[in-house]
Amino acid sequence: MSRVLATTPLSQRQPLPRQLDPDRLPAHVAVIMDGNGRWARQRGLPRVMGHRAGVEALKRTLRLCSDWGIGALTAYAFSTENWSRPGEEVTFLMTLFERVLARELEALEREQVRIRFLGDLEELPQGLQSLIADATARTAANTGIHFNVCTNYGGRRELVRAARRLAEQAARGDLDPACLDEERFAAELHTAGEPDPDLLIRTSGEQRISNFLLWQLAYAELHITDVLWPDFDAQALLAALLDYQGRNRRFGGVETPA
Ligand code: IPE
Ligand code: IPE
Ligand code: MG
Repeated sequence: MSRVLATTPLSQRQPLPRQLDPDRLPAHVAVIMDGNGRWARQRGLPRVMGHRAGVEALKRTLRLCSDWGIGALTAYAFSTENWSRPGEEVTFLMTLFERVLARELEALEREQVRIRFLGDLEELPQGLQSLIADATARTAANTGIHFNVCTNYGGRRELVRAARRLAEQAARGDLDPACLDEERFAAELHTAGEPDPDLLIRTSGEQRISNFLLWQLAYAELHITDVLWPDFDAQALLAALLDYQGRNRRFGGVETPA
């Protein structure tokens, strides 16, 4: 019996909805959690209340993905562009990340979640960096869902960083440029070792990538929903997964007969 089963009472785990084919679930789901500010504005609340509600939506989504047997969830929490927001909002977000991580670490450990933070972490506040290092180390050997939180993440910056690291290896004589291929390149990305996302969900109706996983999303199916992130729930995730299972993924080939 896996440790997840041994520690999480069966009654609390959500069964996979019957409409979904368990053999055709995405191995990796990526999500652009957007619409927190609009959710708060609709309620006459300050934007930051939307971020607080967004944390609950993320916890809900992580648990559902884990219960439904999805191998990895990668969530966009803070982009390299988000520093341009008002100072109070940025400070609130950083404090929120710290509080949530400190509060939830035990549950993550108990539920066998392997958490990682992807992005330029050295630019984050020192306290958050320490919590991240601790959470990463304490969950590294966990056997459950891979939970990647993109924090101070930018797709272009990630690609430039990979190019720089490879150039340094070449300059040192450790890499023959003629041997550089996609696999070797992908190994220098923050997501090294993780399969590419099969499904990208963006909430709040915006139809753009916003500098997220530019390399990794090459063949992801896109699901855009008008649901605002704090309202994202089991029904919204089910809708995304049904949409995904209805797609014919050709990867540049021809349609496979049903
Ligand atoms: C997404 O919600 C959360 C972050 C980018 C941190 P927003 O804060 O972008 O919400 P909207 O787009 O203003 O509604
Ligand atoms: C994308 O949302 C970044 C995150 C969800 C962290 P934004 O709200 O920052 O993106 P834009 O500004 O609409 O492109
Ligand atoms: Mg937004």
